[in-house]
Amino acid sequence: MTAMYHRLPVSAYTSQDWFDREQALIFSRSWRYAGLAEDVPEPGHYIAVQAGLNNLFIVMGRDRRLRAFHNICRHRGTQLIRAVGKSQKALTCPYHDWTYDLEGNLVSVPDEAREYPGGLDKSCLGLKPASVDIWRGMLFVHPDPRAPGLAEWFGAVDPHLGPHKSDQLAEYPEARQTYEIKANWKIVVENYIDVYHLSHLHANTLHMYDHAKAEYGWKGPHYHFWEPPSAAYAKDLEKNLPTPRVIPQPHTGTWVPMLFPGIGIGASEDSWNLFIITPLGPKLTRVENRTKLASASEWEFSKQAWSSQGFWKNFGGPKYSGSDASGEDDPMASGDFTAEDIYACEQQQKSLQSPYFEVGPAAAGESPVIRHQQAVLDFLAAQETPAP
Ligand code: FES
Ligand SMILES: [Fe+2]
Repeated sequence: MTAMYHRLPVSAYTSQDWFDREQALIFSRSWRYAGLAEDVPEPGHYIAVQAGLNNLFIVMGRDRRLRAFHNICRHRGTQLIRAVGKSQKALTCPYHDWTYDLEGNLVSVPDEAREYPGGLDKSCLGLKPASVDIWRGMLFVHPDPRAPGLAEWFGAVDPHLGPHKSDQLAEYPEARQTYEIKANWKIVVENYIDVYHLSHLHANTLHMYDHAKAEYGWKGPHYHFWEPPSAAYAKDLEKNLPTPRVIPQPHTGTWVPMLFPGIGIGASEDSWNLFIITPLGPKLTRVENRTKLASASEWEFSKQAWSSQGFWKNFGGPKYSGSDASGEDDPMASGDFTAEDIYACEQQQKSLQSPYFEVGPAAAGESPVIRHQQAVLDFLAAQETPAP
C-alpha cells in the first residue's frame, strides 16, 4: 500500500499569486454564503457580502421577493450600501445621490436636466443583477445572474447532511462571533476535514463522539461527514445532551460537512452551527460562527442543562497542563477545541515559510485533505479552460 501524497505546492498556501487566482476563479465564480434568511426579513432590508472580487447585496423588494445586485453605482461605481441595513424605500449612492428603487431601477438623478442637457436614459442604468437563492435557511449569492440554482449545486450532497431544519431553529446570539486565523483558508478547511486529528489534537475536547466510527465522503467538491456518539455519551444520550434536541429520535450523531468553498456546518442532536471561511490574504482567514438551537422555552433549556450536568462535569479538559502548558492563556491548555484548531492551523502555517519544510505522507484519516486539494485544482482547471 502506498502512502498518499499532497497535491498542492507550498506556494498554494503562501503566495499572493495563488490567492489572486483563487479569488478570481473560485470565490468569484461560486455560490457564497451571505447570511440567514431571517437577516433579510422585510421589504427594504438588505445585506451586503464580498464574493471574491465582487461586492454583492441582497435586498427584499416591495413584492417581498429577494433580489441580488452588484453593489456598484452605475454612475462612477461607488458602493451603494454598507453591511446590513433596513427599512429604506430606495437606495441612494452617497457620492452624487443617484437613487435606485428596491428592484434595482435608477429612479432619480439630481439636477438631471442641468447636468445631462443631452438627456439621460435612466432605463439602461439599473443596477446589475446577480443571483440569490435560499437553501436550508441560508442565503447565498452568486455574481452571475444566470448561475444554476442551489438545488443543483448542493443537490447531490444534501441527503448526507442530516435531518436538521435550520429554518425552524432559533439563533443563539451569544455564540455569534468572527475571528481571524493567521493561516491560509485551505489550511483552515483541511483542519476541519482532517479525521486523523480528532482523536489527537482534540483528545480531551471532542470525545463525546466516536471518531473510529466516522463515515465520510464526497459529492463533487462537497465533503460530508457523520459520526455516532461515543458509548459513554450514548449510554444516557437524552439526559446527556446539553440543550434540548433539534432533530427527532432516533437520529443521533454529528454531521460536519464542508461545502465548497469554505462553508462548514456542524450539526448534532441538539445544535446547528455555521463555520464560514473567508480568505482575507494568502496567510490570513476570517471565520464567522453562528449557532442555532431548539426553539424551546427557558424552562426546557434549564431542565436539559440540569439533567446533563453529571455527564459534562467529568468531561473534557486541557490537552496540556502543568509543566507542559506554557502559561494561563496557552490554547493547548484551554480545553476549547476551537482554540486547539486555531493553534494547530497557525503553527502549521508558520512552518511553510521554512526552506526545510517538507510535507510527510498522508494518513488514511487525512484522505479528505488530499481530496480537497484536488477539488481546488479541479475547480481552477475548469474555470481556466475556455468554454467550447
Ligand atoms: S458614483 Fe454613485 S452617484 Fe456618482
Ligand atoms: Fe479540529
